[in-house]
Amino acid sequence: MMNIEKLKAYQEKIKQYNLIDFFSKDTERANRYSIQLEDIYFDYSKNYLNKDILNELFDYANSCNLQEKIEAMFTGEKINKTENRAVLHTALRNFANKPLFLDGEDVMPKVREVREKIKTFTNAVHSGEWKGSTGKRIETIVNIGIGGSHLGPAFVTNALYYYNQDGIKVYFASNIDADDILQILAKCNPETTLFLIASKTFTTLETITNANTAKRWFLNSISDEKAIAKHFVALSTNEKACLEFGIPPQNMFEFWDWVGGRYSLWSAIGLSISLAIGFDNFEDLLKGAYEIDRHFRYTPFELNIPVIYALIGFWNRNLWGYNSNAIIPYSHLLSDFPLYLQQLDMESNGKYVDLNGNIVDYPTGQIIWGESGTNSQHSFFQYLHQGTDVIPVDFIGVLQPQHNEMLHHQWLLSNMIAQSEALMVGKSRKEVIKELKIANYPDDEIESIIPHKVFVGNRPSNIFMLKKLTPKTLGMLLSIFEHKVFVQGVLWNVNSFDQWGVELGKQLAKQIFKDLNSKEPTNNHDSSTNKLINMLKTLF
Ligand code: F6P
Repeated sequence: MMNIEKLKAYQEKIKQYNLIDFFSKDTERANRYSIQLEDIYFDYSKNYLNKDILNELFDYANSCNLQEKIEAMFTGEKINKTENRAVLHTALRNFANKPLFLDGEDVMPKVREVREKIKTFTNAVHSGEWKGSTGKRIETIVNIGIGGSHLGPAFVTNALYYYNQDGIKVYFASNIDADDILQILAKCNPETTLFLIASKTFTTLETITNANTAKRWFLNSISDEKAIAKHFVALSTNEKACLEFGIPPQNMFEFWDWVGGRYSLWSAIGLSISLAIGFDNFEDLLKGAYEIDRHFRYTPFELNIPVIYALIGFWNRNLWGYNSNAIIPYSHLLSDFPLYLQQLDMESNGKYVDLNGNIVDYPTGQIIWGESGTNSQHSFFQYLHQGTDVIPVDFIGVLQPQHNEMLHHQWLLSNMIAQSEALMVGKSRKEVIKELKIANYPDDEIESIIPHKVFVGNRPSNIFMLKKLTPKTLGMLLSIFEHKVFVQGVLWNVNSFDQWGVELGKQLAKQIFKDLNSKEPTNNHDSSTNKLINMLKTLF
């Protein structure tokens, strides 16, 4: 049971106001409800919030022992209870030069060792010292992975387009659908291609199937098993499986079970990023995340971006009942951010069982979705403005572009700010009438069109504004979202670090695959499933 009665009382009181009223009553509201942290500005003023509500939310966080739980995560307590694991992705970007003990062993030397190995390898590939088996430079990198071994690296590599190394192309293959890997292989030359097999477990069906296809494709042109050592590396915690696949130990980049898949881009899984943008930039990404780690760990909740952001999400989800959250980057380079966040947030907090194994009687998690602006304005924004559900929106903008087309950029940001304003202020009946009259709309038709043109407004949004999209600010942004997910997991008392819900589908797919490949028609399932399987059997 959640003790949110006081919050409910505040909600009742605040409901009678329009969001815009808060701004007319308090001209300092934007200053009061925003935080500038280095090159990131967080504006949370356009929410149904006041100081009393925020204080109550902070009290709620305290009643959940949030500060102790933050410490427990950073210091390596085994907070992932169902897997008996620590949660230490923050160690991967820890530049404090202090030991961090887990089961009596300092994990930091190993972290630094792998980081050094990433550096040496990246530099060797870029300088041409690392050559393909026929003596040619590596020009193409193909990362084969899925979920956390794909989404983070793919998103970051695209986002940091301006930092991409000349002469290196990076592709990401993830789907079990062969059309994914085949289209990528069609662009590759085996002599100059390096495959990164990225899989924490090295057992994931999609990744292993794609890796085998890539290996077959490679050996078809360079029929020498020894050549694999120059074209395949593994990023994994499972040394044995890597060896069995044929990847020699020196080509393995290790990480550990205390790094969750969706938190792994900071680990060896980030090798594709380092190869795409250079090691120094990769390190800046880590340093940005480290900056936020310290902010999150040591800043009072009242000034703490991830904590406030998480509490606003909690307020929207558990008091107002909004079950969806749109993430709209007004940056083409950040287009894939919603995809990455879907795994981060929904795989972490989509849980109906709490840490004690009880079924919760309150909502947890939310549907995360979105698309970059302004494209999304011309598709689903109608729903955001006039749909029957209220969907809080988080906008992400970048102040300084890295191109010179300022006209585009001014329009881009004008649109972002306009959308946030429009969601809040809406358009009243009076304004609609005024507009129609100016446009000489026939008087006898005005009344019937009014309801369609009125926007009720009062729809909440946040804005994150980055000064510039650099490796460092991107690292900061990602770390803010990671910690927001963590805080919400604490507020909901769920384990944000397991993902048992993805297992059933994998098990059933194996059984169906077996049924598909047996001679007899199957009768092992319900009639719908049997019919579909038997229909497919005629094709194979
Ligand atoms: O199926 C979900 C999942 O386990 C994710 O949590 C993970 O990021 C992804 O699969 C890939 O796992 P791996 O890195 O072990 O191949």
